[in-house]
Amino acid sequence: MKRISLLLILSLLPLVVMAQEDNCLTCHRDFEDEDGGPSYLITRDVHIQKGLSCADCHGGDPSLEDMDEVRESRGWRGVPDHLEVPAFCARCHSDANYMHEQNPSLPTDQLVKYKTSIHGKRLFGKKDRKVANCISCHTVHQIANARTPYSSTHPLNLPQTCAHCHADADYMAEYGIPTDQYDGYRKSVHGEALFENNDLGAPVCNDCHGNHGALPPGMASISHVCGNCHAMQAQLFDKSPHSKAFEENDFPACETCHSNHLIEKPGDQMVGNKEPAVCVECHSEGDGTRGLDVAAAMSLAVEKLANAQAEARAALDEAIAKGMMTTDEEFRFKEVQQMLIATRTQIHSFSLDTILTMADAGYEKAKEVQTNSAALIDEYFFRRKGLGLATLFITLLVVALWAYIRKLES
Ligand code: HEC
Ligand code: HEC
Ligand code: HEC
Ligand code: HEC
Ligand code: HEC
Ligand code: HEC
Ligand code: HEC
Ligand code: HEC
Ligand code: HEC
Repeated sequence: MKRISLLLILSLLPLVVMAQEDNCLTCHRDFEDEDGGPSYLITRDVHIQKGLSCADCHGGDPSLEDMDEVRESRGWRGVPDHLEVPAFCARCHSDANYMHEQNPSLPTDQLVKYKTSIHGKRLFGKKDRKVANCISCHTVHQIANARTPYSSTHPLNLPQTCAHCHADADYMAEYGIPTDQYDGYRKSVHGEALFENNDLGAPVCNDCHGNHGALPPGMASISHVCGNCHAMQAQLFDKSPHSKAFEENDFPACETCHSNHLIEKPGDQMVGNKEPAVCVECHSEGDGTRGLDVAAAMSLAVEKLANAQAEARAALDEAIAKGMMTTDEEFRFKEVQQMLIATRTQIHSFSLDTILTMADAGYEKAKEVQTNSAALIDEYFFRRKGLGLATLFITLLVVALWAYIRKLES
């Protein structure tokens, strides 16, 4: 029995050795450029790292030692044309059985979704070679998952990956769509959060546009995408009088006031009845709505609260500088800050009553901080006066004592 298994192993050994010999890689390394040749790039590729080989994608027999023979050998697929790449990748990635064995957590719907995107529709429908296929976004020979820092789909690199085409005005000219998305994005609150503060929670292109499909999963329209992260504002907006009015007029929910790519840091100047408030873009005197009046009243309420907050801060800072015990006031001030933030967010309800109630409550609290801080400052001066009097008294006493001693001596 032992002898038989030994024989079996010995007879299988050459086969195993042969299968391990990957002439594709060794021969290609002999002549390819170390900087850009597929056989060198490939060390960064997830497929090779997971044990696949050149032949798994390109086909051919890796034990052969001649490229011409390789091209005649079994399963040779060669190099796919731009239009064939999706099927080339999907041979594995849409094969649920195969992928399940390799990594059950990977979805197998990339091709199906890709077909619903503008890229996929144009590639298959119009044989358009300029739209993105799988390797436009994933690169070739250095494909890596989105968590790998050098991956073309890592959040820090993805905007560049899309910009490669979308920011190239010549390349995009025939489509007549803007090419300023990357530029706008980079300067936006989101681009700043990502590139300057390394905040990977900030959305990049694919968070709003989807990876493969026309939209991110579960989204009925791109105008709902912001609510994925800014849930508070979206909820308030949905219940506001604008929700229905915007839908009827085909105004997208959030972009109408915030734009889509160049989203700037919002501020109180955005509300009100005069420029640069966004409200005046649609509301005007005598348009039959309360819009303009509400805008003016909201603006006043927020301004009043913001001013009270600033005054409270100044008073508190003075008390701190004088070394007074300000712990309670600092806590109270934090509440004021929260109330100011909440009031600004509440603007999305476009309900004046709610804003006034919240702004008033914040204002009262800010005044409380201001009054209490002023009292602390008074206390400081009172104590200082006391100290002055005490010093004077002690000095007089010392002088008197000295005079008395002198008198005793004489
Ligand atoms: C003995 C060296 C050698 C071996 C082994 C070899 N190649 Fe090549 N391969 C070349 C050379 C040289 C070229 C450049 C094209 C030519 O033949 O002029 C090439 C070209 C290619 C190309 C470009 C497309 C084409 O048809 O020209 C692909 C893809 C390729 N090889 C993949 C493979 C794969 C996959 C294997 C293993 C199954 C492999 N090669 C084995 C030397 C080799
Ligand atoms: C994940 C699949 C995959 C693997 C693995 C892979 N290739 Fe490719 N390869 C492609 C695709 C797709 C293209 C087409 C690129 C294009 O259209 O620009 C390609 C193109 C090529 C070309 C044509 C010239 C070029 O640089 O684009 C060569 C040569 C080549 N591969 C060699 C190799 C070799 C050698 C290996 C192993 C070291 C390998 N490939 C591994 C998918 C793969
Ligand atoms: C021979 C089958 C095969 C082919 C062809 C193939 N892949 Fe893969 N791909 C795999 C396997 C297996 C994995 C690794 C799964 C694992 O273990 O995580 C993988 C992983 C990936 C990943 C990383 C997934 C992740 O997030 O972890 C990407 C991206 C990817 N492939 C894209 C492509 C693209 C683009 C092409 C076409 C150029 C392609 N693949 C062709 C089998 C294949
Ligand atoms: C417009 C760019 C784009 C195109 C085109 C594209 N991908 Fe992706 N793909 C992405 C991004 C971005 C991710 C990363 C998602 C993330 O953050 O996890 C991804 C993720 C993947 C993954 C990991 C699993 C998953 O679904 O999240 C695989 C596998 C994959 N792509 C394969 C493909 C294949 C195959 C094609 C062609 C049919 C393709 N991709 C086309 C951008 C693209
Ligand atoms: C290889 C070049 C290329 C790359 C890379 C690319 N795209 Fe595109 N994209 C195009 C072309 C070409 C169109 C077609 C324009 C059209 O029909 O309006 C398009 C269309 C689109 C559209 C639809 C525009 C419309 O008409 O409303 C969106 C959205 C889009 N791309 C987003 C992305 C995102 C996000 C990425 C990166 C993850 C990306 N693209 C990567 C070339 C590219
Ligand atoms: C915060 C979400 C968000 C991010 C991030 C984002 N977009 Fe957009 N994008 C939108 C919205 C919303 C639209 C408008 C869609 C509409 O009205 O149909 C849009 C429109 C587009 C269009 C259509 C042409 C146009 O400008 O109207 C393209 C192309 C596009 N985006 C590409 C990109 C690229 C490339 C990136 C990354 C650099 C990106 N987007 C980042 C939300 C986003
Ligand atoms: C993937 C999550 C995500 C999506 C989707 C998203 N955002 Fe953001 N947004 C963020 C993060 C993270 C910040 C930055 C820092 C912060 O405010 O905490 C931010 C900041 C902002 C700010 C500035 C907030 C401030 O207080 O300075 C505005 C305005 C904004 N986003 C609007 C939008 C709009 C409009 C959309 C849709 C077109 C959108 N966001 C989509 C995550 C997201
Ligand atoms: C893109 C256009 C647009 C912008 C910008 C806009 N609104 Fe409106 N608003 C509307 C429309 C349309 C209605 C519905 C009018 C109707 O009921 O006939 C409306 C209704 C309202 C209402 C309810 C009016 C009523 O009579 O009940 C209020 C309050 C309001 N807007 C406040 C604001 C404020 C505050 C701003 C600025 C922060 C603003 N709006 C910005 C278009 C806009
Ligand atoms: C009618 C105009 C308008 C619409 C529509 C609108 N916003 Fe705003 N948004 C504002 C104004 C005005 C501010 C500034 C408030 C301030 O700082 O006083 C703001 C501020 C913000 C902020 C900063 C934090 C905060 O709440 O103050 C975020 C985040 C935000 N909006 C997200 C959204 C999202 C998400 C949507 C869509 C659901 C949306 N906005 C729709 C006018 C609008």
